[in-house]
Amino acid sequence: MQPLAAPQLSQQATDVLLAIESSCDETAAAVIDRNLNVLSNVVASQTSLHQRFGGVVPEIASRAHLTQILPVVDEALREAGVALEDLVAIAVVNEPGLVGSLLVGLTAAKTLAMTLRIPLVPVDHIQAHIYACRLAEGREIFPAIGLVVSGGHTNLYDCRGPLDFEVIGTTIDDAAGEAFDKAAQVLGLGFPGGPAIEKAAANGDRTAFDFPRTFLKDEQRLEFSFSGLKTAVLYTANGTPGSHAEVPKMTPERTADIAASFQQSVVDVLTGKCEQSLRRFDRKTLCVGGGVAANRRLRQALAEMADRLGIRLLIAPLAYCTDNAAMAGIAWESLNAGLTASLDLDVVPGLVRRR
Ligand code: KG4
Ligand code: ZN
Repeated sequence: MQPLAAPQLSQQATDVLLAIESSCDETAAAVIDRNLNVLSNVVASQTSLHQRFGGVVPEIASRAHLTQILPVVDEALREAGVALEDLVAIAVVNEPGLVGSLLVGLTAAKTLAMTLRIPLVPVDHIQAHIYACRLAEGREIFPAIGLVVSGGHTNLYDCRGPLDFEVIGTTIDDAAGEAFDKAAQVLGLGFPGGPAIEKAAANGDRTAFDFPRTFLKDEQRLEFSFSGLKTAVLYTANGTPGSHAEVPKMTPERTADIAASFQQSVVDVLTGKCEQSLRRFDRKTLCVGGGVAANRRLRQALAEMADRLGIRLLIAPLAYCTDNAAMAGIAWESLNAGLTASLDLDVVPGLVRRR
């Protein structure tokens, strides 16, 4: 297909774009103006559909996106008081994520861009998670170290500018959110695991179990690994295979202690790696986004660390932590830099692109 000629954008503050997000199990649309004011931010969660499977089922997610996408877009326009003809661009998250889920949002976005003859702007979901901090702050925040902690990602970035992010660390196995979800499953706390663990942990002793904090002491290694921690939780709850030691009965108290100790281990590792990154890259700002950034214990530990180091800490507000389309307001940066896509734009499901 031929790229659409980018129309001359008027420089009016009232210019608005529509952003679409469907990378995992939330169907979302938002209207954001040129000054990064979020005029609407609609999210249709599929949690109830996936709950009984203990995780996101990709095929179910794609089908739910299909039924939700147009009502969600309609609702976002209606709430913003904006008509289709008012839009100057369509932004869409096309990477990374579940391939079928991404395709639903991308197809809707392409159709709108084509029929309205306005530019299509690709958005990287993980960069958008960090940009949520910029959006909330209302002014420039870069350069900064960025941490994205979600169900699919645990990535550290050196963010030199709004469109200039370099991956400086990732997980070599599970993502932090995935570890929360799996630990919650082992403890019978339900899905999604993050909020469930946080709730159970509130009554527990975070020093009760000395769970692994992989790579924490290795300053040179800006990487994460949560699979050993997950196994430690499993063996503590159910017993170590081959061991004849009696496994203590799981009581609400023991569950709370395991949840609190698990949570503290993740918090220590995330906070420690942020501190090491800030020092290594000599940055004075830390931005944190993604679903796990909703965790209060993590927010508190990051705030204590930021105070100690005297750096500026920006954590995405709760509404912008879990998946949403407002954070795709990063598309304004791309649009202003002339970075639009042609209608043969594809999805890029792969987890991390080093740039
Ligand atoms: O960013 P997000 O909505 O979706 C992905 O892009 O993955 O993140 C979802 C993840 C889930 O693993 C969920 O358990 C975790 O974020 N999460 C939390 C909390 N709220 C959500 N983890 C820890 N504490 C929370 N309060
Ligand atoms: Zn996400």
